[in-house]
Formats: sequence, C-alpha cells, structure tokens
Amino acid sequence: MMHIDYKRRQFLQYATLGTIAASLPGLAWAESPTVNATPNEAFKADVEIALTAQTADVPILSGAHTHVFKYYGKLIKGPQTTLKELPGYLGPILNFQQGQKVRIIFYNQLPEPCITHWHGMHMPQVMDGHPMYEIRRGERYVYEFEVKNPAGTNWYHSHTHELTAPQVYQGLAGLITISDEAEQKLDLPNGEYDMPLVIQDRSFTNGNQLRYVLNMHQRMRGFLGDTILVNGQENSIFPVKTKAYRLRILNGSNSRIYKLGWDDGTPMIAIGTDGGLLAKPETFPYIMLAPAERVELWVDFSGRKLGSDLTLQSLSYQGAGHMGGGMGRGGMGMMGGGSGQDGVLTIARFRITEQVSDSPKLPVELVPMHRLTHQDISNPGRTVPIAIGMRHMAFQLNGRTFEMQDYMENEKIPLNTVQKIKIFHEGGMMGRGMRGGRGGMGMMMSLPHPIHLHGQQFQILARTQASPSREYDSVKDGFINSGWKDTVLVMPGEEVEIIKPFKDYAGLFLYHCHNLEHEDMGMMRNFYVS
Ligand code: C2O
Ligand code: CU
Ligand code: CU
Repeated sequence: MMHIDYKRRQFLQYATLGTIAASLPGLAWAESPTVNATPNEAFKADVEIALTAQTADVPILSGAHTHVFKYYGKLIKGPQTTLKELPGYLGPILNFQQGQKVRIIFYNQLPEPCITHWHGMHMPQVMDGHPMYEIRRGERYVYEFEVKNPAGTNWYHSHTHELTAPQVYQGLAGLITISDEAEQKLDLPNGEYDMPLVIQDRSFTNGNQLRYVLNMHQRMRGFLGDTILVNGQENSIFPVKTKAYRLRILNGSNSRIYKLGWDDGTPMIAIGTDGGLLAKPETFPYIMLAPAERVELWVDFSGRKLGSDLTLQSLSYQGAGHMGGGMGRGGMGMMGGGSGQDGVLTIARFRITEQVSDSPKLPVELVPMHRLTHQDISNPGRTVPIAIGMRHMAFQLNGRTFEMQDYMENEKIPLNTVQKIKIFHEGGMMGRGMRGGRGGMGMMMSLPHPIHLHGQQFQILARTQASPSREYDSVKDGFINSGWKDTVLVMPGEEVEIIKPFKDYAGLFLYHCHNLEHEDMGMMRNFYVS
C-alpha cells in the first residue's frame, strides 16, 4: 500500500556508515541492536511505561475498521493517571509532572524500522529519538529522562529516517501533558474541562483504509487529506457544560496549516503555546496553527443556550496565491492551487448539553516568563542561519540535505549558550520577488515552512515580511509571538529571528521542517552542540 523506497534508505545508510560513524565513536548506528537496549539500574524511575508500536485494526470511520500503526502503552510504575487511552489510532496521552524521572521501554513490533521522539521536550541526545537510533522489528529502546519542561502540551511521534511522514500518517503519534506547581496554583479548568484536541487530515479508500499517495505535487507541497480527524475520529461533536474549558490543541497533520477560529466570530483566547503557558492570556481574531505547533485555548461556554453549538473551524486564507494560474504553462504548474485554504473547514463542534451555575474566571496573569532579549545572546556578533532553499526539486536547509550525523561549521553551537538564529528564504525575499519571474523555482520557494528545533524551547524576536501582500494579510494576525516555541511557521517572503538556549546537553540535535513530506525528503539538519 505505502510507497516506500527501502533500497534507497539502505543505500544511504551503508554509504554513510563507514565514513561518519567511525569518526564519532559513541554515536553508533542503530544497526547495532545494543544501543540503549537495557535499563540503567542506577536510574530510579518514578514512572515506567512499556510503549509498543504495532499494527492494529481500529474503528475510525463508521463501517470497516482501518489498518493502522498504533502505540500501545502499559503502565508499569507510577500514578494511575499517567496513561490515558483515546479511541482510534492515536497513542495514549502521557501525563507527566515536572521533575518526574521517566523510563519508557519502547518496543518495535512493526514490519519496518522505527524510533520515537518526544517533541518539545528537553533531554539528552540519546533519549531524543534521533533517526540514527532506529530499531528493527523485535528490538527495544530504553528511554530514561527527567521531565525538565514546565507545564504544557507536547507530543511524541515516530522519527524514523525517511519514514516519519508515512508512519505518523498511519497513526504513530500521541499527546504529552506536563504539569507543574506554578500551573497548579492557577486553578485552570481540569479533569473533564481540560480537553485534548489533536487535529489531523487524512484520506480514506472506499474500504475505510488510509490512503497516502505522493504524486509530484504532494511531494513538493506535502500531503493534504480530505477528511479532518480530531483525536482520531471524524465529525467530532463534544458535549460541554456552560463553563470554561482548557483546550490543548495540537496540529498533528503532515502538512496542513489551520487558521483556527470560532464560527460565530468569538475571539480566540490563547493561554499557552508549544512550550507552555503564556505570561498572560492573549486574544486573537484567529490563530494560525502549523504542523507540530500547539496552542492552549481558554473557551468559556457560560451563557450559551442549551442545545446550541460553537464550532471550531479552519477559516479560509490565501497561501502564496501566485503559485497557481500563471504557472499553468510551465512544467511546474502542478504546484498550482497555492498553499492556502479555500473555504471553511469544520474541525469540531462543541454542543451545550448541560447548564451549570458557576465557572472559573480567566486569570489575569498566568506564569512568570523571562523574556529573552539581545542582551542574553552569548556571542552577539554571531547569527546562526537557517536558510530555506531548494535544489534538484527538493527543499534544503543551509544548502544541504539531511545526512544522518553530518553538520557544518555554522551548525556547531557551543554548549550552555544562548544563540540568535535567523530563519529566512535563500536568495533574499525571492519567495515574493520572483512572482511571474524566471520560472518555477521562485514559485516553489514560496511555500510556508514550519521550522522545528529539537532541544530547548525558543522565543521569537522578530518577524519581517518583505513586502505587504494580500496573502500575508490573511494570516498575519494569527501568530502568537510571545510564548515559548519549538516550531515556528515561516511564511513565503518572511524572515523570523529567534533566540534559543542550548543548555545542559551536548550532542547532535535536529532542526527541520515539520511539513513531514519535506522532512522525509531531507529538509533536516543537525546542530552539533559541544
Ligand atoms: Cu516533531 Cu524532529 O520532530
Ligand atoms: Cu522535536
Ligand atoms: Cu517545509
């Protein structure tokens, strides 16, 4: 069913094996099944979980079950609330507390290699799920880490070399929540009033099986499905009470970008981003949510009529619209259709089914947040570049395609520093400037890319758009630039400056486009922190 080029993978693996592994002892390939296969007795775990990736047949649509890849969890040690199962194909929600020591024994029972990454979490290289650690069927990988992140919403997913997109697509993902003391003091809505919302787009065959086809267009732009799933189910209607809720929203899609809004125009109130809670709640007309990004919303259903609905939608917006029409004549006309969204998509309905008398009040302040500024940068003379570019019909970063353990001089980061990083489109503001210009390249460059950095969360210093445009105007009020982030959407013609600490852990840490089709085509690199 899936179209996967194993030969190419193997060739790449063996080609790299001799040259680089030898020069980096300790970073041995997962080809040796001994890497982290046994628990470290000295690590006293508060929480221990067996997590197995396997094939399964689960109900997603009405009728026939769907064949998927799925994470199954079993709690071996720790609070009963640690694992929460969801119906459908997503893995269990992992509920952690800051400071917990966690051991996860990951078993691969899939008919292909796999490795799991804890997206958003700060941990050592060998625990981070770098694709070099992939294990084969029947093998296991032992993760042991302390939860360092503050309260917030993270997630886990497969990070297998050149197979991340199809594996996540088939179900290998799950949510992680972290709580801490500062959050507990806030008395935010909890229990049934704390709702996860994992948004994904999928396509199905008539027999209810997942369809994942990459033609040239899909390969360049990323896969887009025609069915919206929330928490692995379609047509979601959530019964709610007339009270405030905390919604933890993850865009778990391969490449679809959502412009989230309420159908009746109610403003969106954000209380958290990728890396945790904001300093104070912020209000937006709509919120852009790119793949891998999270947003936590406060929504208060008080005062709404029994039986009425409030609907979460993805509103229409314009992508790089000029990728369409005019390109039809050239060979790259297949890129047409732009990267925006025509019309409105329904994501989930919240139906008022019960009236209750009181509701918590939205806090004025949430958690203290140290705003990083230029003063915090360790070596003010240096800006670490992340240049988005394209060669040979593939997107690249800093002029290179991913190679397992490769890094360049400008990808070396001194340990325990804070760096300024500039993410930009190679060739200046080419994305915009080449409108109708020299042909296909500029057009293809004009895609939005959600750029994700492993390791510690960063902050956004500045966003600069080359020139005003209708496309940018249709999205620009939906960016949350104040919170901790691990993924930032970089629009065509846009430059984003971020500031990021690289503390505690030395080694190779990935940065990549979280459009998973782009990632699998090699739009990924390593930072070497030492
Ligand atoms: Cu969500 Cu490198 O990963
Ligand atoms: Cu990550
Ligand atoms: Cu991309």
